[in-house]
Amino acid sequence: MTTRYLFTTAITIAVVSLLAACGSAKSTSAINLTAAQAKYPGYSMADFTTGQALYAANCGRCHPAFAPNSHTEAQWAKWVPKMVPMANKEAGTVAIDESGQELILKFLYAASH
Ligand code: HEC
Repeated sequence: MTTRYLFTTAITIAVVSLLAACGSAKSTSAINLTAAQAKYPGYSMADFTTGQALYAANCGRCHPAFAPNSHTEAQWAKWVPKMVPMANKEAGTVAIDESGQELILKFLYAASH
């Protein structure tokens, strides 16, 4: 009985941690690109990882990198273009060009849908 209880508890903890891990930003391996591809035809896993890397490298330098689902699509559309020049200034180079900005917006969409 005790063994069975411990086993059930272990399984429950494993499932809960798994769900918690999915809560904020989906991991690259768990990402389902279907929604993003419906919105952005041709969107690929390579686009996703490029956007994710640009975001990770540039958008957590002054404040924590906000989770993709922390803001709505409309809010991201407002903030990202405002933040990109700041991120480039901080980097001292054009770390994010126009296509990079698009990839960041698409990454944020893909990671929260
Ligand atoms: C040079 C520092 C700096 C960098 C780099 C930077 N930010 Fe910001 N960010 C700020 C500051 C300062 C504010 C608050 C400014 C304001 O309210 O106008 C802010 C606010 C925000 C907000 C609004 C938070 C809220 O209250 O809802 C978002 C979203 C955001 N940044 C996203 C980004 C993204 C995406 C990037 C990468 C492209 C980025 N930031 C890079 C300094 C930075």
